[in-house]
Amino acid sequence: MNIALLAPPGGGKGTQSERLIKALNIAHISTGDIFRSIVKGTYKGAFPVDEILNYMNKGLLVPDDIVVKITLERLNADDCKNGFLLDGFPRTVNQAEMFDKLASDKKLDFVILLEVNEEGLIKRLTGRRSCPKCGKIYNIYYTPPKKNNVCDDDGETLIMRSDDSIETVTKRLEVYKKETMPLVSYYENKGILKRVDGDKSVEEVFKQIMEVIEAK
Ligand code: AP5
Repeated sequence: MNIALLAPPGGGKGTQSERLIKALNIAHISTGDIFRSIVKGTYKGAFPVDEILNYMNKGLLVPDDIVVKITLERLNADDCKNGFLLDGFPRTVNQAEMFDKLASDKKLDFVILLEVNEEGLIKRLTGRRSCPKCGKIYNIYYTPPKKNNVCDDDGETLIMRSDDSIETVTKRLEVYKKETMPLVSYYENKGILKRVDGDKSVEEVFKQIMEVIEAK
């Protein structure tokens, strides 16, 4: 099973990915997480770190050639043999076309579009906190940890992403509309786009996605 999650920034890709990879036993490939690891120096390889950080902090997309190369390399790892979940890739029609051409043996079964109203996204993003150790995602408004700013699972102090400031979030939403939304018709034309109501609770969204997958 090869799946891609398509959603605006804060649309719930990371949150649903955590659940889906466990339920389906497939690899999680988040290009955003990979870039954050590259910036931290914990992802092996030679990368233009300053260039990547500059794009991310401005809320802009990292150039297609860099993203596609890293994603294709990651897809060759052993853990992807049972299938994979793409979280945040592709993000432009050009990335999708390059992926279709260069990874023709790794066809996507579904592209799941999480449809979310824009008003709620700002609160989701500025309220997001995550655990630097296990990666668990919280939200101070919707899904807070039991103890203020501390991970429920391992007691680490939660962090806020540097691109979750209101200025960068506004830019990321603008870039999504311009660069990423054309992918909706790209995958609709291929007959693999499935729409899910992303405004429901985390559990309900997960249930809807699983229904789509199980109906295959
Ligand atoms: P990336 O990390 O992919 O960021 P993004 O797409 O902007 O998405 P987010 O991670 O912000 O949101 P999400 O949809 O995962 O939501 P989450 O589940 O965390 O990319 C970062 C940057 O890297 C990009 O800006 C770009 O520079 C670069 N990049 C990455 N991929 C690239 C590519 N392919 N090409 C070029 N550049 C690329 O949820 C958000 C919050 O909402 C959380 O607090 C969560 O608890 C809460 N929440 C989730 N679901 C619900 C719900 N149902 N109800 C209420 N709250 C909810």
